[in-house]
Amino acid sequence: MNDMLKVACAVVVVLTTAGVASAQNQAQVDSGQKVFAAQKCSICHSIAGQGNKKGPLDGVGSKLSADDIRQWLTNAPEMAAKTKAERKPPMKVYATLAKDDLDALVAYIQSLKK
Ligand code: HEC
Repeated sequence: MNDMLKVACAVVVVLTTAGVASAQNQAQVDSGQKVFAAQKCSICHSIAGQGNKKGPLDGVGSKLSADDIRQWLTNAPEMAAKTKAERKPPMKVYATLAKDDLDALVAYIQSLKK
């Protein structure tokens, strides 16, 4: 194979992998949106004006890392203490969500960027 062809093949492989990865991520974000609705997070939070406007999550993906988001979901009391969040009622713990649901929810919240 000549060098040009090798380079072209490498580019195709990289582009295809990136495409698959982002499609998977989009699927995860979509299912996270469903988990958000099913868990009724909007009782206390709003996204794009839908839900409780005292707790907007718009742009939170730019502020929090995936780990922080996961911590909020699995250990809200500790995160609330750490960030001195005083809004009532406090967030409950969602540690019993299935791993896939939790991962999807984290992906969804992380996609909420400004
Ligand atoms: C009973 C009310 C309540 C429910 C239900 C609730 N939360 Fe929260 N959540 C809070 C409060 C209070 C905070 C602290 C920050 C604030 O005052 O908004 C918080 C904080 C957060 C944060 C960090 C926000 C930031 O700006 O740093 C995220 C992310 C979050 N919640 C996601 C969720 C998700 C996802 C769900 C559904 C699985 C959920 N919450 C359900 C009350 C709630």
